[in-house]
Amino acid sequence: MIAMKEYAARRRDLMSMMEPNSIAVVASAPEKVRSKDTYYPYKQDATFTYLCGFPEPSAVMVLIPGRDQGEFLVFCREKDRLKETWDGFLHGPEGARDEYAADDAFPITDIDEILPGLLEGRGRVYYDIGKDAEFDKHLMEWITNIRDQRARGAVPPGEFVDLGYYVNEMRLLKSAGEIKLMRRAGAISAGAHRRAMQATHPGLYEYQLQAEIEHEFAFHGATGPAYTSIVGGGRNGCILHYIENRCRLLDGDLVLIDAGCEYLDYAADITRTFPVNGHFSAPQAAIYDVVLAAQAEAFRSIAPGIAYNCANEATISVITQGLVDLGILDGDVGDLIARGAHREFYMHNAGHWLGMDVHDVGDYKVDKSWRDLETGMVLTVEPGIYIAPDNLNVDQQWRGLAVRIEDNVVVTRNGCEQITAEVPKERVEIERLMAS
Ligand code: GLY
Ligand code: MN
Ligand code: MN
Repeated sequence: MIAMKEYAARRRDLMSMMEPNSIAVVASAPEKVRSKDTYYPYKQDATFTYLCGFPEPSAVMVLIPGRDQGEFLVFCREKDRLKETWDGFLHGPEGARDEYAADDAFPITDIDEILPGLLEGRGRVYYDIGKDAEFDKHLMEWITNIRDQRARGAVPPGEFVDLGYYVNEMRLLKSAGEIKLMRRAGAISAGAHRRAMQATHPGLYEYQLQAEIEHEFAFHGATGPAYTSIVGGGRNGCILHYIENRCRLLDGDLVLIDAGCEYLDYAADITRTFPVNGHFSAPQAAIYDVVLAAQAEAFRSIAPGIAYNCANEATISVITQGLVDLGILDGDVGDLIARGAHREFYMHNAGHWLGMDVHDVGDYKVDKSWRDLETGMVLTVEPGIYIAPDNLNVDQQWRGLAVRIEDNVVVTRNGCEQITAEVPKERVEIERLMAS
C-alpha cells in the first residue's frame, strides 16, 4: 500500500508547483453502467488515486495551497445505512478526514454551495480539462455563477491550467513505494505466465489459458487483469489486440499471451510466446531468437541519460538484420531501416511507460526531442515479429508466425532492472518448464 505520508508528500509537491492564490480541483471517475442497474467494477480516476487514495465515486478533491483553514478538502457521499447495505461501505466526510487526512470534508450534495466560494478570487484553476465532459460542465456552471455575482464584487478565476501537465510528470518518476508494488504486480503476472506454460497442450482453448492466467492473478490478491488478456494461438497472434480468445490451440502452432495484472493500482504487462506442443519448430525458433536478441539489445540501451527512443532503434536494427538473414527481407540493412521496411513485420514501437495505467502517462518527447531516461522511470520492452498468414512475398514456412516478448523494467542508477524476469524466455528454459 502507498503510505498516507506519501500521498501527503505528493500533494505538497504539487502545491509547491502551483501559482500563489490558485486552486486545484480533481473529480472522481464516474461509475459506468454495464446494463440496467448493474455496473462495471469501479475504477477510480488515476489522478485522484495518486493524490489521496480515496477510492469512492461521487467525490471531488480540492487543493488550495496556503489556505489557513485547510489546504486539502474532500467532497464525498455521506454515510447511509441503507445504501451501505446494498452497495457497501462509505467513508463519509468523517472517514475522508480521519483516514485520508483531509483538512476538511463535506457532503458532495453541498458542493454547489461551497465550491464557488472556494473558486472565487483565485487566479488559476488547475484541473483535468476535458477528461470528463460532465465535470467540465459543472465547473463552468460554478464559474458562471461567480461571474453573475460580479456586480457584487465577485472575481471569477482568470486562468485554467491542465492539471495533467504537472501530475503526469510526477507519475512518470516512480517512488520506492510504487516500485515495490510494481515488482509485486510483475511477480504475480510472471507466475501466471509460468502457470500458462505448464497448462498448455494441443486441444486446449485460448479462453482456458486465459482462465489459468486470471485465476493466478485473483488467487494472489490482484484486482484483476490490468487490460483484457490476449491469448492468440497460431495466426491469431498476428492480430495485435486479439481479445476474442475463443479458438482451440493446435499442435504445431505457437501461442502468444499478453497479460498482466493490476495490483493495488499498479499494472504489469508481460508477453510470452511459446509452442503449444512444448517444442519450437525450426522456423518458430528462428523468428523467436531474433525477437529475443532484439529485446536483449534494447535492455542495453536503457539507462539514465540515454534517450527514450534508443531502445526502440535497437530493436529495429536487430529485427531488420534478422529478417534479412532469414531471407524474409532483401536488401541493405541500413537502406531497409531508412525506408521502414520492418514496419510490415514489426508495426508497433518497442514499449511504453508503465504505472497506474498500462499505457502510462508522461510525455515521450520534450521540446520535440526524445526525452532522456531517468532513474525511477518504468517502461515495457516488447519487440515482436508478425508475419501475415496471407503474405505471399515470404516463404510459406514463415506465414502466420507471430512472436512478441515483453518485459517490464525500472530504470536504475546503472542501467535497468527487469521486474518480470521470473518467467522464462530462453527457448530451452521454456521447453523445460513446459515439460515439467
Ligand atoms: N498489453 C498492451 C501492450 O502491450 O501495450
Ligand atoms: Mn502487453
Ligand atoms: Mn505493453
